[in-house]
Amino acid sequence: SLLRAPAQHIPGYNYDESKIAPYTLLDPLRLSNGAPVTTAKQWTTERRPEILHLFEENVFGVTPPAALHAVAHARVVEHNDHALDGLAVREQIDLTFESAPGITPPAEALHNLRILLYLPAAAVAAHRPIPIVLGLNFTGNQSVVDDPGILPTPLWSKPKGSSTLLHELPADSTRGTATQQWQVRMLLTHGYGLATIYYGDLEADFKDAAQYSVRNLYSTPVQLAAPNAWGAVGAWAWGLSRALDSLLVDPRIDPNHIAVTGHSRLGKAADWAAAQDPRFDALLSTESGHGGQSIQRRALGETVYHLEHSFPYWFCPNYAKWVGHDSEIPADGNLLVSLMAPRPLYVASAQGDEWSDPKGEFLSALSASRVYTLLGKPALPPNAQPPAIDHPIGLDGFVAYHERTGKHDVTDFDWENYILFLDNLWGKQTPA
Ligand code: GCU
Repeated sequence: SLLRAPAQHIPGYNYDESKIAPYTLLDPLRLSNGAPVTTAKQWTTERRPEILHLFEENVFGVTPPAALHAVAHARVVEHNDHALDGLAVREQIDLTFESAPGITPPAEALHNLRILLYLPAAAVAAHRPIPIVLGLNFTGNQSVVDDPGILPTPLWSKPKGSSTLLHELPADSTRGTATQQWQVRMLLTHGYGLATIYYGDLEADFKDAAQYSVRNLYSTPVQLAAPNAWGAVGAWAWGLSRALDSLLVDPRIDPNHIAVTGHSRLGKAADWAAAQDPRFDALLSTESGHGGQSIQRRALGETVYHLEHSFPYWFCPNYAKWVGHDSEIPADGNLLVSLMAPRPLYVASAQGDEWSDPKGEFLSALSASRVYTLLGKPALPPNAQPPAIDHPIGLDGFVAYHERTGKHDVTDFDWENYILFLDNLWGKQTPA
């Protein structure tokens, strides 16, 4: 079975708004020395780098410069002009990474990333620059749509009761199992392309799997033990930026209209990728929750204790310092989200996902909106209230939010509204 951690509502945690200890949100528009941020220049040159540094030191760790200068070799391994009954041009591209000079990674370290790319065939034929949504997937490229042409790559799993990780080709029955979560045909018919990568190509999502991580190509074991060393979320985010490198040199793609998306832990990775890499033009994040867009100091639903206990490898070692100190964390969700400004941001929540605290995600979007306003972009007004269920707000501006019916998941409702939001900002694409 493919790995999915429980979400929704885990007993033993607080879900009662009235039991949240009084808290003050961190202020995206105040420097750590207390001075207010009143100009766009001050935001860009002082506060933004300060916030980024807080996340590097306390949450996700530093992406090493050697990784940012990674050498990758790209090879198109498959191309089809008539995929999905002629709706799409499909391409599969392998990126092979060289380790950094002076580093000898363990033999088992991963160094291959397979990009699955769908472009709307009509837009390719008409030479229209194509907007793209890029995201990491949980269950392998073969799962995102029922297309026998997708070349499967090995997936990680750990059979119940076993301590051994398996890295094996998925069964044919897993093709298209994440169709609902990806809505590839919907994107294509609206004129958008999709690029997706399997997160396990970068790092296996298990405790004690660090020896397989792509991080080993750029950091020595000693460096990986540093208090601010990058973790798995850092590796996944890094992979998104490397896929972006390859999209940016594709002449069919509009280099100014590339959105990054992600759900849950992979929403955290998308948040962190977009925060670090300004070449991402928009962020569509579904239920990234705590350690992502939620307000940790509310401690409603998941806590740092839970994250650190279950998924210590996602974060930098320093993150452990905040166990039991949720209300003191100096890098909280609203600051993470503010790093998107002034680029389009869609924060999506689900009613049945109390574990991720939908209201906390709303408050992050609201708080970050102040930065957008400073930078001259329309965003949520300061008096905005959490909207009614299934009623997105902000679709006509740069910051949108919704809380939909249903559970911790990605649905057609999420995608329909992501597309509306992008259409409003980037112009409606000619339908395929
Ligand atoms: C767990 C984890 C969350 C995470 C989620 C997911 O529930 O506690 O932080 O977002 O898994 O990735 O589905």
